[in-house]
Amino acid sequence: MAAIVSEHLLEWYDAHARNLPWRARPGEPAPDPYRVWLSEVMLQQTTVAAVKPYFEAFTTRWPTVEDLAASPEEDVMAAWAGLGYYSRARNLVKAARAVAGQGGFPDTEEALRELPGLGAYTAAAVAAIAFGRRAVVVDANVERVVSRLFAIREPLPGSRKAIRACAEEITPDSRAGDFAQAMMDLGATICTSRDPKCLLCPLQAACRGRAEGDPAQLPVKAPK
Ligand code: ADE
Ligand code: SF4
Repeated sequence: MAAIVSEHLLEWYDAHARNLPWRARPGEPAPDPYRVWLSEVMLQQTTVAAVKPYFEAFTTRWPTVEDLAASPEEDVMAAWAGLGYYSRARNLVKAARAVAGQGGFPDTEEALRELPGLGAYTAAAVAAIAFGRRAVVVDANVERVVSRLFAIREPLPGSRKAIRACAEEITPDSRAGDFAQAMMDLGATICTSRDPKCLLCPLQAACRGRAEGDPAQLPVKAPK
């Protein structure tokens, strides 16, 4: 199943990827690690639509990580106003200074993990998207798609280990960054929470949740 899933998903992504300002355009080499990192930090608790104008403003004002590192923290905090979760902005400045001090972004998941504000998700996303590393990138979209694909019925959060193992199984050796972003796009546009559009889905033939007839019920959440 693994190869079928990644092949179909990447083929779909090549045709339908959302055109987002932090992504490499088709045919371009990998995007700038600074832009990938900045976008992933902004996207941690904020929607794509809300992030876009902030991303444009930041990259216009601070085109490189060195520019951001040289900026007073209060200027960055002021530019962040409205995005929320302000510890992200403080960590952003700290991480930019660390990266500038070491002459550029580290290119492995483990080393990225050491930077302020980079948790498991962000380190994996940057390693895969900016550096082509085979990293397993699991956000809420990916959790939903994987729960459905494998018909995982154990409730969240207990199912996280199983979800990660399944995500690992379907992550391809090459194009892991495109694969991760394809999973996010599929979750945002087709395999949506309330109303999965299985008839439009490139994974419909492989999907166990669809075969079992109730994909919209997945992932199950533990009662609060
Ligand atoms: N959400 C978090 N990271 C994303 C990305 N790279 N593309 C689209 N949505 C995302
Ligand atoms: Fe989601 Fe349906 Fe696609 Fe399965 S077939 S991954 S439930 S959209």
